[in-house]
Amino acid sequence: MKFMSILVTGGAGYIGSVTVELLRKRGEEVVVLDDLRHGHRAALVPDVPFYQGTFGDAALVGRIVAQHGVDACIHFAALIEVGESVVEPARYFENNSAQALALLEALRKAGVARFVFSSTAAVYGQPKQIPIPEDHPQWPTNPYGWSKLFVERMLESFDRAYGLRFVALRYFNASGATAEHGEHHEPETHLIPNVLKAALGRRSHVSVFGQYYPTPDGTAVRDYIHVADLGSAHMLALDYLRDGGASECINLGNGKGYSVLEVIETARRVTGRAIEARKEPPRPGDPSHLVACADKARRVLGWEPACPQLEDIIRSAWEWRLAHPDGYPVA
Ligand SMILES: NC(=O)c1ccc[n+]([C@@H]2O[C@H](COP(=O)([O-])OP(=O)(O)OC[C@H]3O[C@@H](n4cnc5c(N)ncnc54)[C@H](O)[C@@H]3O)[C@@H](O)[C@H]2O)c1
Repeated sequence: MKFMSILVTGGAGYIGSVTVELLRKRGEEVVVLDDLRHGHRAALVPDVPFYQGTFGDAALVGRIVAQHGVDACIHFAALIEVGESVVEPARYFENNSAQALALLEALRKAGVARFVFSSTAAVYGQPKQIPIPEDHPQWPTNPYGWSKLFVERMLESFDRAYGLRFVALRYFNASGATAEHGEHHEPETHLIPNVLKAALGRRSHVSVFGQYYPTPDGTAVRDYIHVADLGSAHMLALDYLRDGGASECINLGNGKGYSVLEVIETARRVTGRAIEARKEPPRPGDPSHLVACADKARRVLGWEPACPQLEDIIRSAWEWRLAHPDGYPVA
């Protein structure tokens, strides 16, 4: 059976570019929409149909759908910096929430009724139980989390009123790389790429925010998931929707937490380099633990992570970093 095109917003970003790589490897038609404010043209092979523009531009989305026969959308595009969202909430609500509404309206008018959404563990806020199940209360601790939670609520309402079917994938900490695509954010606030930059001598040290959390070594614990495992979950979510599956919100994590100090120690082992860690005060709004209950992804999507070990995740990121010490070239 021949499928039509998939619109991938944010396909020039970290997780989007890996998913585009995997989608094309399995023979899917893909069209990417990204305004490149944080993405990289070099993260897309030249023959991927690409539109530089904002995903809230309803006229542009309508044209792309008509021209490429789009029948599903994977929506990665968003602003992703928790700290920035605290200082500039209006930008986050405009970009991540208001523009998402415009995108959903444009897709509805064009008859696109399958939608995979990049949600986040940040929709839960401070966890009341670990691991976190999907029915955990949702009360984000920052505007970024709220901007994503609002979209989940829009999706539920669009499903009820208009028959949109969606899968909202709540990622925990995306990490690692494929041979072709890796993580290059400016500025970089994620732990693993910063640890590897320090290993490479591109930063003097790595900051450890908070030493007195109620965790075994006092530093924050996170659930790291390989970016290609995230990508494969998106393809399974698409298959699920194509097979008529009902709308769902699903966690994507490995169900195992590692502390900041464990990540740094593992990176020292993998790279064989010295990495200086400096103690800093905790960041406001950072929960002590974020670990997924990942059973639903297995049960509903049949998802099985291929690279669940932290050491392998860090090794893949390190190999990409060694091949691209400065990240993607500027276009
Ligand atoms: N990286 C993580 O650990 C993580 C965890 C949970 C959820 N997420 C979610 O996954 C998605 C992708 O994250 P990422 O790490 O790949 O981020 P990224 O910044 O690398 O990619 C996001 C892409 O969206 C594009 N973009 C942003 N606003 C846009 C707009 N208005 N119009 C068009 N393009 C726009 C950027 O240029 C960028 O290429 C985001 O929605 C993020 O909230 C990421």
